[in-house]
Amino acid sequence: MKYLDSVIKESLRMYPPAVETARFCSADTTITSASGDIVFPKGSDILIPIMGLHYDPQYWEDPNKFNPDRFNEDNQRKIQHFTYMPFGAGPRMCIGERLALLEMKMALVHLLARFELLASARSPYPARFQACFNLTPEGGFWCRARPRPPRPLGQQRPSEAGELPAPA
Ligand code: HEM
Repeated sequence: MKYLDSVIKESLRMYPPAVETARFCSADTTITSASGDIVFPKGSDILIPIMGLHYDPQYWEDPNKFNPDRFNEDNQRKIQHFTYMPFGAGPRMCIGERLALLEMKMALVHLLARFELLASARSPYPARFQACFNLTPEGGFWCRARPRPPRPLGQQRPSEAGELPAPA
């Protein structure tokens, strides 16, 4: 489960469904940074480039490489705040983060218990995306699912032993 968590987090780094988020500045605000004060006048619209931050080589070594180990227990602690934010950040961050992560894990556990998931020639690699607000793969996202052979009695997975609901 820990590695699945790392895989999902790394997938959300490379392919964040929300590529950017925004804030409206309701009062004059000054942020102090290492390179000096940054002043945001009242009324400013601020776009926060989530995907840009996720690929910034200043914060991520070899950012184009899919490497779930960035999110293992040791490395996760080293990630600089606000450089990884697939669910946004602060008081208006995604309210559904925990539900979304749980749903993804449940779906993958059920799928992987029954099928081997393989790349499909219908989806190009590297992936291509449509120009829109959300990260949407061009032509949809396709993969192949090969049923796993049943294991001998006594070595069955919970799905095969009938402890999980059968796939619809
Ligand atoms: C992979 C799945 C999801 C991703 C990547 C995602 C991402 C985001 C992001 C980036 C924001 C903006 C946060 C900010 O500006 O700081 C947001 C807001 C929000 N999300 Fe999600 N979300 C996901 C799933 C969900 C689910 C499952 C729900 C509800 C069940 C949900 C409900 C909301 C709501 C209500 C807001 C607005 C929060 C506010 O403005 O206070 N999201 N989400």
